[in-house]
Amino acid sequence: MAAVPAQTLQLQDQIDALARQLDDREKIWASGYLAGLAAVGQSHAHGQDASAESVSPGASAPAAAASAPGKTFKVWYGSETGNARRLAEGLAADAAAKGLEVELSNLADVRPHQIRKESLIALVVSTHGEGEPPEDAEALHEFLHSERAPRLDGLSYAVFSLGDSSYEYFCQTGKDLDQALSKLGARSVLNRVDADVDFESQASEWREQALQRFSELSRKDQEDQPVNPANSVQSLAVASPASDKTPAGNWTRDNPFEAEVLASQPLTVSPSNKQVHHVELSIEGSGIQYQAGDSVGIWTDNAPELVEEILEQTGLSADEVVDRLGDKRPLGEWLSQKLELTQISRPFIEAYARGGQIAELEGLLSDAKGFRRWLESRQLIDVLREYPLTLTATQLVGMLRPITPRLYSIASSPSETPEEIHLTVKTLGGRSDQGLRAGAASWLLNHRLEAGQRPYGYSSSLIIDSGCHQIPNEQ
Ligand SMILES: Cc1cc2nc3c(=O)[nH]c(=O)nc-3n(C[C@H](O)[C@H](O)[C@H](O)COP(=O)(O)O)c2cc1C
Repeated sequence: MAAVPAQTLQLQDQIDALARQLDDREKIWASGYLAGLAAVGQSHAHGQDASAESVSPGASAPAAAASAPGKTFKVWYGSETGNARRLAEGLAADAAAKGLEVELSNLADVRPHQIRKESLIALVVSTHGEGEPPEDAEALHEFLHSERAPRLDGLSYAVFSLGDSSYEYFCQTGKDLDQALSKLGARSVLNRVDADVDFESQASEWREQALQRFSELSRKDQEDQPVNPANSVQSLAVASPASDKTPAGNWTRDNPFEAEVLASQPLTVSPSNKQVHHVELSIEGSGIQYQAGDSVGIWTDNAPELVEEILEQTGLSADEVVDRLGDKRPLGEWLSQKLELTQISRPFIEAYARGGQIAELEGLLSDAKGFRRWLESRQLIDVLREYPLTLTATQLVGMLRPITPRLYSIASSPSETPEEIHLTVKTLGGRSDQGLRAGAASWLLNHRLEAGQRPYGYSSSLIIDSGCHQIPNEQ
C-alpha cells in the first residue's frame, strides 16, 4: 500500500478538527463551499477571470450534476455586445465564491417555459434596435408577453437593465421583462436598475446588493427544505457551454491589451469625401484568439485640438484639479482621457438645460425622435457654443459621462493572420470650418496614429467580444 504523505495526514487532522465543530447541515454546506471555490480556482489556474463563463464546462460539470433546478440561484443574461454578459458572469462568480448554488445562462440557452420551475433569478439584459430585446432574449420576452405565460407566484427575481439614454426607448427590455414578471405574480426582490452607458458603478453596487439578497433567499429556501445531500452541494454551474463566447486571454474592458498599430492606410483617394482606412493591429503575445464575426473594443482618448477648443470656449484651465466621486485629476486629463466629448447624452442635455434654464433645449427633450436627430449632428462643443453658459470645472466634469470603448467588426481571418487584427474604419465627420468634429476612435485610428504607436498611449486596449451582432455607427 502506498504511504500517505505527511502533509495529507496533517490536512486530514485539521479537517477532522473542523468537522467536529459542525452539524450535518453545516458539513454539507462546507463541502459545497469548497467545491465552489475549486471551480473558481480552476478558472484562475487557466489564467482567466473568476467569471462563470471562464470556467470551462468540464471544470464545472460535477457540480452542475448536483444542482436542483428549482432552488438553484439562476443568473440569466441577454446581451449583444457583452456588457450584460460580463456583469452576469461577475455576479455568478461572486455567488459561487460565497458558496451559493448558482447557474449562469445566456438566455439563448434557456427554454422560456423553464421559468415556471425557477424560484430565484437575477436577470441582466440590454436593449437593442429601437427598444427591442437582444436576439438571445427574444424568446423569453415573447413568451412572458404571450397567452402561454404561466403564473410565477413562486419566483423571486431582480432585473438589471442596460441601455443608452440617448435612445427613445431607454432600457425598454429590462422594463418590459420586469413588468411582465410582476404581472405574472413573481416578486421583485430589488428595485430594477435602468443603467446608462456609464453603468460601471451602478453595476458593482447592484452586484453586491443582489448577492446579499439572493444569499438570504437561498439560505431561507434551504432552511425550508428537508436536507438532501443531492441538492445541497453548492456549485458554480455553467449552463451554456461558452466555447464560442469565451473571451480569449484575460484581457477585458478594464484590463485592456495594448496593441501596436502595424499600419493605417487610406483605402480611398482624395478628394473623396469618404475616408476609409485599412488598420492593422498586432495582438502578438496577447494569447487572444478570435473568430469570424467577433468584434474588438478600442479605448480612445479625445483629440487634443477638441480639448483645446472646449477649454477655450468655457474659459476653464486645463490645470485645475477636479474631484469626481473621489477621483482627483486636472481638468485637461478629465477631458482628454476620461470623459465622453463626441457623443452627447440625454442626461447631459437635461442637466445643461436645467442649469441654464434653456427653454429651447428643454423643449427639444420632449420630442424623443427629433431629439435623437438633433443629437446626431452635434458634439459637446457645439452645445457649449450654441448655448453658452458660465460653468465651473466641477460642474462640467460632473455633467459628462465616462468615455466608453468603441466596437469594430474584425475584418481579418484568424487562419490568415492569427497574430493581427485588421479593421476597416470609416472616419466619421472630420475637420470643418468650426473645428474638429469627428468620431473619437475613427479619428484616432485613421488620422492620429502611425505605425509603431499604440491606440491610447497610456492604456490602449483591445477587448475581444465574441458574438456581437450589431456594431454602433458612431465610432
Ligand atoms: C444598435 C444599437 C441599438 C440600441 N438600442 C437601444 C435602445 O433602443 N434603448 C436603449 O436603452 N439602449 C439601446 N442601445 C444601447 C445598449 O443597450 C447599451 O449599449 C448596452 O450597454 C449594451 O449592452 P450589451 O453589450 O449587453 O448588449 C442600443 C445599442 C446599439 C448598439
